[in-house]
Amino acid sequence: MKAVVCKKYGAPEVMKIKEVNKPEVKDNDVLIKIKSSTISPVDCAFRKGNPFVSRLFTGLKRPKHIPGDIISGVIEAVGKKVTRFKVGDEVFGHTGLEFGAHSEYLASHEDEAIILKPSEMTFDEAAAVAYSAMTALPFLKDHVKIDKNTHILINGASGAIGTFAIQIAKHFGAKVTAVCGSSNIEMVKDIGADHVVDYTKDDFTTHLNSFDIIFDVVGKSSYSKSKYALKKEGVYLTTAPDFGAVIHMMTLSRLKSKKAKFVATGLRKVPQKIEDLNYLTELYKNGQINSVIDQSFVLDDIIKAHTYVDKGHSKGNVILILDQ
Ligand SMILES: NC(=O)c1ccc[n+]([C@@H]2O[C@H](COP(=O)([O-])OP(=O)(O)OC[C@H]3O[C@@H](n4cnc5c(N)ncnc54)[C@H](OP(=O)(O)O)[C@@H]3O)[C@@H](O)[C@H]2O)c1
Repeated sequence: MKAVVCKKYGAPEVMKIKEVNKPEVKDNDVLIKIKSSTISPVDCAFRKGNPFVSRLFTGLKRPKHIPGDIISGVIEAVGKKVTRFKVGDEVFGHTGLEFGAHSEYLASHEDEAIILKPSEMTFDEAAAVAYSAMTALPFLKDHVKIDKNTHILINGASGAIGTFAIQIAKHFGAKVTAVCGSSNIEMVKDIGADHVVDYTKDDFTTHLNSFDIIFDVVGKSSYSKSKYALKKEGVYLTTAPDFGAVIHMMTLSRLKSKKAKFVATGLRKVPQKIEDLNYLTELYKNGQINSVIDQSFVLDDIIKAHTYVDKGHSKGNVILILDQ
């Protein structure tokens, strides 16, 4: 089978497409013919080995796995003891820390965070949900209380996580202010944003005492400036904390009325992830969320895909197609 192979950390060109052995299927494994995955800034960080701490998961000196941890696909074979799935099932979810999604096949333990894909989602849409809706949801469902009186600001609203964060915050009843560039204003309004701040013309941190929650999905703001835009009991959520947010979380957060919170959503336990995949599936089936897809790349164009995502201007999700 074809797979992405990296022998060292670095620029997109470190990735090669190679023929490797199809994985063996053990008794509790399912063999998945992968249809789609995503390419995100997380994949780019793992490829670079930067931040260095990411190498704890991917290999200290050099990458030790086929990259990618997001999949949608079809079960092609099942081990003798598998009970959750059968051949032909369409599935989506996470591979876990064995990675291996950027290849044509994956052998995964049946107890990983993988569930049946509903017919309402295409394989591309399902991969987008597994990456970015699965990042946005835990922040908004488990770490803040949102109702119709909540005013939330989402920074990076036009990207992969941001486009789901808008829709999920609206689902919980919030009033949403989206921060994006001029070319994405119509798109974020179309998916539910009530107000827009164009970051090329206006600095949201100068909107003093305005928001109950600031959710920086793209990690481009700082807590020390953003806190002035929070109301008295406001909460700052971030997918990528800056130094000030880390210090606040470790020291002052318990004492101060304003809180800063970070969640490493990929490291949550499998049952929590399965619960969230099921939750998002229901929202999708009810038409409450939709995947915004920027563009798709085939496996042979993996370098182009990473180069594109590295630029940081994706409009929604970038998809990697493993099987047309
Ligand atoms: N905590 C976790 O568990 C976790 C999990 C997954 C990802 N992450 C983190 O989440 C981040 C990636 O988010 P993503 O996948 O949504 O990224 P993305 O899709 O690459 O985001 C790109 C979007 O960000 C917008 N943007 C760029 N600079 C901006 C700025 N200064 N202000 C507002 N918007 C700006 C761009 O709009 P323009 O084109 O207009 O600039 C573009 O639409 C990474 O930092 C990653 O490490 C964390």
